[in-house]
Amino acid sequence: MRRNNPGRSMAIWNLGSINIDHVYRLESLPRPGETLASRSYSVGLGGKGANQSVAAARAGARTHHLGAMGAGDDWVLQRLNDSGIDMAHVARLPDEATGHAIILLEAQGENAIVIHPGANRAVDEGALLRTLSALGPDDTLLLQNETNGQVAAAQAAQARGARVVYSAAPFDLDAVRAVLPHVSILAMNAGESQQVLAGISGPLPVQGLLITRGAEGAEYRDLTTSQTYVQAAFRVTPVDTTGAGDTFAGYFSAALDEGRDIAVALRLAAAAAALKVTRPGAGDAIPTRAEVEAFLADQPI
Ligand code: RIB
Repeated sequence: MRRNNPGRSMAIWNLGSINIDHVYRLESLPRPGETLASRSYSVGLGGKGANQSVAAARAGARTHHLGAMGAGDDWVLQRLNDSGIDMAHVARLPDEATGHAIILLEAQGENAIVIHPGANRAVDEGALLRTLSALGPDDTLLLQNETNGQVAAAQAAQARGARVVYSAAPFDLDAVRAVLPHVSILAMNAGESQQVLAGISGPLPVQGLLITRGAEGAEYRDLTTSQTYVQAAFRVTPVDTTGAGDTFAGYFSAALDEGRDIAVALRLAAAAAALKVTRPGAGDAIPTRAEVEAFLADQPI
């Protein structure tokens, strides 16, 4: 059970991947056996974890990132620091490459992604658990499926009464099954939610399901009250949907951390994700809270 403790300030802790995104723009995604020349190439900040940390920090949450990178690529660390994220718990591993992603982006903004986990799957679990011993019931732990240590971290955070938000991406039913008993909120897109509901029988042992449906909006199912909250998507013209789900999860978690109710958290997260898809890139394209508030001020209630 979470409670507010006036002596401690709440924070978001995120065991998450840090990737360098290599983005290739194409007219359409290649079919098997096809070779296509890209229209453009860019390099940016990514990783589902890093994107969620950027979103949470830009939403205004005190955010600590937990994870690992290779020994070089200092610009990545610097950029995450500049977003206001505490990077003191990110290890530099000389024998591992910083995680990276090859992102193919077609004309309508949809993508196909290949990741190389590198250091993201070499996080020292002992060090992780020592860090997580600082968590309290007012804190939130974010997790996605791009690092090792998910179950141990979720277990440790749950034991300290913290809220655990798990994003089931990239989707792996076995990974979901393993971590689920220690999760408070399971975040998924529509396709992932169908696979979870088809693959896991019986009631899910979590407090809530956050389901994002892209242009069809999002919903939160509170499994403790059976209430469902629905949020329509804001209409925008997408140029790049990469990181939209991460932006949603990071903003939603930051809003709950701030004490907002579900409806407010959903609206804020939907607006942040809508703004993100109007911009190219992943972590670099996540809007600030001021940008999100200005966008919302122009929308009908
Ligand atoms: O969710 C988008 C992210 O997935 C990209 O930034 C890429 O790095 C992969 O992890």
